[in-house]
Amino acid sequence: MTAPDQNRTHEKFLWGSATAAYQCEGGWDEDGKGLSNWDVFCHSDDNDVNPVDGDVASDHYHRYEDDIRMMAEGNQNAYRFSISWSRIIPDGTGAVEQRGLDHYRKVIETCHRYGVEPLVTLYHYDLPQPLFENGGWENRETVDAFERYAEVCFDAFGDSVTHWMTVNEPNYETLCEYGIGNYPPNVRDLRRRWHAIYNILLASARAVVRFRSGGHAGQIGLVSDSYPIESLVDDEAHRDAARLADLFFNRCVNDVAIDGTFPVEFLDKIESDGTDMSFIHRDDAAVFLDGTIDYLGLNVYDRILVKPYTTGETNLRANNTGDATSTNQIIVKGWFEHDVDPTTEKNPWGMEIYPQAMYDILVELRDRYPGTPVIITENGVGYRDVVVDGEVHDDYRIDYLRGFVEQMQRAIDDGCDVRGYLVWSTIDLYSWINGYEKRYGLVRVDFDTLARTPKDSYHWYAAHIAAQKEITS
Ligand code: BG6
Repeated sequence: MTAPDQNRTHEKFLWGSATAAYQCEGGWDEDGKGLSNWDVFCHSDDNDVNPVDGDVASDHYHRYEDDIRMMAEGNQNAYRFSISWSRIIPDGTGAVEQRGLDHYRKVIETCHRYGVEPLVTLYHYDLPQPLFENGGWENRETVDAFERYAEVCFDAFGDSVTHWMTVNEPNYETLCEYGIGNYPPNVRDLRRRWHAIYNILLASARAVVRFRSGGHAGQIGLVSDSYPIESLVDDEAHRDAARLADLFFNRCVNDVAIDGTFPVEFLDKIESDGTDMSFIHRDDAAVFLDGTIDYLGLNVYDRILVKPYTTGETNLRANNTGDATSTNQIIVKGWFEHDVDPTTEKNPWGMEIYPQAMYDILVELRDRYPGTPVIITENGVGYRDVVVDGEVHDDYRIDYLRGFVEQMQRAIDDGCDVRGYLVWSTIDLYSWINGYEKRYGLVRVDFDTLARTPKDSYHWYAAHIAAQKEITS
């Protein structure tokens, strides 16, 4: 790993929140923006679970200043957002759209004006449609296109952004796209997943190399959704299942981004599953080694419980409706199955409320990848909030966040190098295939009027940050 530029980074702990372009911006066809795969998917009949779209979403494209001001008023000093590739290079590979650059320049300047550090993700699930139609992440040309897009962004904003993130969640994105099949291209074939994840990681590494060769100041990372993998039974078969699940969810991304190599056991396993490994080119190994990250962006929501694989075909299913008739299921043939602890609380989408996941994953990463700083780039919980007399009393969200923040502090006390914590999400937004009912925001958005109302969790977070500043000043 390259040593971070100590002069420009991390003088202060980052306390903030996060969003992603397609989920909140709206303005889907404004100012020369091209179509993304999510625009097209949401406008199609394939989007049949919650058939809504991000055309307007939270209207952050027009209201970003209000949203950033509210962050600052709530004592937040950091904002993670993503750039929509289709605004910058509308067809993915051709001409650069100046109005797209101008928009993000204004967002970044607004952050600085309010004393909020901008943390910029280059790619958060929304791919320019022409690249998607050309095979998306299964086509190496997308890697070339990403490298160029990243360079355009570094050149445009490198003077005013010190925290970059190449891609968001290569694991979860490709799991949904090629495992569960609920994100475009809606495929259920893990062998194709491995091809896509490989190219996403290669694109990230090539962007990191470009960032360094361009002499840009600041730090560059990758955002990984990582999970402590646990079992309810302690025996050899369960430990084997946990090891395989760790390769499947975590190490296939983190080993590559941090150490620059894929775990050998992982490569052997996917090859024995019949994956065509010809996507691996000889010269890539050096790129992965050169393109290791400065810090890991870590999205922490829960743990993954596993048990040994027993029988049947691979079957992954997600509860995207939040009702009792829908369940989550993960069976990966020859690898593991997921398990459920009947004693723990879950949200309506079946996500376990398990704050200790924060401590466990941080300690695990500390031990596996010593010397790698971490920023918690997402942590939050989705609920159907209820408005009472114009207010949202989201005690459940406060309890969740407080629990995770306490566990983060415990990990810091035990030597984990955590540099920041960002709540998902800054405002209510489009929850991908889950639609708009599943809300994560610190600030409520009325999706009819687009009015903003801070929730109780926003006020709790503001007070928490103020108290931390008193302790450290
Ligand atoms: C993360 C993503 O996986 O989790 C976000 O980076 C996403 O984009 C968040 O919104 C919550 O997941 P979901 O599917 O409930 O919206």
